[in-house]
Amino acid sequence: MHRGYQHGKVDDGAPGAIRHARTYELLSAIVFTGSRRRIFGRLVDLAEIIVEDEVLDIGCGPGYLTALAASTGRRSVGVDASEQMVTEARRRRTSANCSFVLGKAEALDLPDASFDVVLSSLAIHHIPEDARIRAFGEMFRVLRPGGRVLVADFQPPKGHLARHLVGAIAGESMRDNPVERIAPMLGDAGFDLGATTRVSWFLHCVRANKPGDAE
Ligand SMILES: C[S@@+](CC[C@H](N)C(=O)[O-])C[C@H]1O[C@@H](n2cnc3c(N)ncnc32)[C@H](O)[C@@H]1O
Repeated sequence: MHRGYQHGKVDDGAPGAIRHARTYELLSAIVFTGSRRRIFGRLVDLAEIIVEDEVLDIGCGPGYLTALAASTGRRSVGVDASEQMVTEARRRRTSANCSFVLGKAEALDLPDASFDVVLSSLAIHHIPEDARIRAFGEMFRVLRPGGRVLVADFQPPKGHLARHLVGAIAGESMRDNPVERIAPMLGDAGFDLGATTRVSWFLHCVRANKPGDAE
């Protein structure tokens, strides 16, 4: 059995997909306790999204970050492997320049070089390890030359007790999440690596660029 998708209910086609979308949205609002706008806003800032940008948010869940990116860029598309998440995102995030599609990070049904920015938050640990390198390859493929990627994922706490608690509550995929492997995998996919930033105590963010000049 793969590691990396043992919390959340499981979809047959994508083992890490989360079905209980409304509960996730509620829990997310509670867990972030008023700091959601600040933390996700920081991701938008780190990706340096500007008004002309077309943005793809991979593993978008109920679409909070997708909508935030849409409020800064030209348009924003969220993709998620869970039909329930896509339905919930469409219901909640209704701005005209924000849309949602069903799809898997490791096999995107989207054209080459069609986005300026790819975002992904708290989703990589849901993708089975053997599919992650394909997911990073897909990020590279759908970005235009000069495009930016920002991958943020859960950084487990260092202390034994805290890790044990994370494992008990959220499962092994979060307790043992190897975030330090994100940067090398982005490099293997062809990206030029940029800064690694800790946004809040639990969010490890890696920024990278697709080589080439933006048009
Ligand atoms: C923990 S949620 C994060 C949602 C949102 N990005 C956020 O930061 O709140 C992880 C999301 O990744 C989705 N997911 C899991 N495996 C996926 C895959 N292979 N491709 C695309 N999405 C996937 C799940 O369905 C879920 O909505």
